[in-house]
Amino acid sequence: MCGIFGIVTSDEKELGPVLIEAAQRLTYRGYDSVGAATLSGSRIDLRKDVGRVEEVAARCNFSEMRGARGITQLRWATFGEPSRVNSQPHLDSDGDMVGAHNGNVVNNFELRQQFIAEGMIVRSENDGETCVHAVERYINKGYEFLDAIRLAYGDLEGDYAFVIGQANDDKLYAMKKGSGLVAGIGEDFTCLSSDLPSILPLTRQIIRPQDGEIITLWADRVELRSVRDGSLIEREPETVTESMDAVQKGGYPHFMLKEIHEQSRVARELLHLLDGSHEVETILEKIRTARHLYLIGCGTSYHACLSGSVYLAQLAGRPAIPILAPQFTPQYGPAVGHEDVGLFVSQSGETKDVLNALETAESRGMAAYGIANVIGSTLTKAASCWLPLCCGYEISVPATKTFTNQVLTFLYLATRLAGLDTRSLQAIPDLLDETLEMTAPQIQALTPVLNDWDDMYCLGYGATLSIALEGALKLKEITYAHCEGMLSTEFKHGPLSAVRQDYPVIFVAGPADIPLIISGINEVRVRGARAIVIAEPDPRLEANASQVIPVPKSDPHIFPLLAVLPLQLLSYHMSVARGYDPDFPRNLSKTLTVD
Ligand code: G6P
Repeated sequence: MCGIFGIVTSDEKELGPVLIEAAQRLTYRGYDSVGAATLSGSRIDLRKDVGRVEEVAARCNFSEMRGARGITQLRWATFGEPSRVNSQPHLDSDGDMVGAHNGNVVNNFELRQQFIAEGMIVRSENDGETCVHAVERYINKGYEFLDAIRLAYGDLEGDYAFVIGQANDDKLYAMKKGSGLVAGIGEDFTCLSSDLPSILPLTRQIIRPQDGEIITLWADRVELRSVRDGSLIEREPETVTESMDAVQKGGYPHFMLKEIHEQSRVARELLHLLDGSHEVETILEKIRTARHLYLIGCGTSYHACLSGSVYLAQLAGRPAIPILAPQFTPQYGPAVGHEDVGLFVSQSGETKDVLNALETAESRGMAAYGIANVIGSTLTKAASCWLPLCCGYEISVPATKTFTNQVLTFLYLATRLAGLDTRSLQAIPDLLDETLEMTAPQIQALTPVLNDWDDMYCLGYGATLSIALEGALKLKEITYAHCEGMLSTEFKHGPLSAVRQDYPVIFVAGPADIPLIISGINEVRVRGARAIVIAEPDPRLEANASQVIPVPKSDPHIFPLLAVLPLQLLSYHMSVARGYDPDFPRNLSKTLTVD
């Protein structure tokens, strides 16, 4: 993971504020450490430290940094603990080159040993430094800068994007292998970044480099060359018209709360899009005739796959195998073939675990389709066709609106496959709003009660198992409490021993499963637990549970989409009440482009 940003301007100026703002926009990609470097004539000013952008920028006084070229990097630690020395950017041995990367260089250890043996000064354990020395190695051998980068590309194994500049020059260079990188062209500057949203406030003229291309940035132009032979690649800039409102908090204290409240709007937009989509027809046709259907994702996206598997089986009689992406290759890789279909689900479209599974699927001749939020992401390019989630930017690290639209996409596909009328789904957006309104007061009241605990369970059954798992994941991600999600009927096979006086157990009770859930509630209540139930209003539950959080009446397939909202709200309020920032939980990153 990690994020990089670089800029080249026509005149020397205070670049610090520009770098700080770019770093803030990239914060979601990593916040273990932050660094900035400016280049001016023969001087390289490099400042970096452990912590969030605001803290490090203030501590190191980034705002006074001047130059005509600048680089900033946000780190999500993989190689080397989060520390000042492992922070990026990094210098070469003499201190006249500076560079930073995002992604993972998997032969980092071997290369570092070689560089040390070759007499270079290796200061950290970080693979970003390895990228810099990989270029230095060929400069030392007398190669021109561009050729040195081309040769370094061949030595650096893994998926990454890398930016580097040298003193006494007027350019920055970058290259990309597997990780996202976008270049922007402004009035009197050019820039590049790991993602598009961090560039859009500066310019809307962009160029998207491909893997195996080296980008040279001058203040007034961008040049692309092939790493293979150095030949020039022509590519016209595109103009991006997307609105930037989506990346502002819009009056909400956190992106997460804003994104929770955007769910009805994005669900409405998704349904509209799916109704007119040719890709839906293609995917449905393939699903109908597939031998086996696999639903593949990680984290929250995997939970959506679990929902999809239930919907496809219950509504359309179509079995589908949900599988965590990294387990796909070892478990099913040897068994799949061209008769099989994989639906690869990812908010970012960049999760390395998902892309690895996609590679296996394609190498075995499987049909591979994507469900992704980020347009232009690697998944959307690699899959034969894909469905967009229509959520706009999701900034907060915990996924909310993208989960809802992933589940809704599966519900739509299953409804279509079953030959049922999708107009029944049109009620969902309004129901989502009603659910938020209906559950918010109770959730706020419950927050201090549950915040006394650092351990709890969230249980579901059938179509709500995925919701219980997702609710537990949200709670873990942003409250740092342990919450385990599981099948309600499994609770008695061991975890029941955790129950003591007032111990919190949350049940997500689908309308078809009430009698079974009532048994579960009683099993824990007689042992002292506080049984909180998210369900449609039901006197049987009122009579048995410690507390019922009612959601609007719908049906057993729509209910899960509503039931996840109070769990999102609960984790949000518990996180804020504990004094944490729910948008950027410790140790996590929104997009994991590493194995
Ligand atoms: C990271 C994020 C999770 C997310 C998972 C999959 O771990 O922190 O919130 O669910 O990646 O991300 P994707 O972009 O593939 O949906």
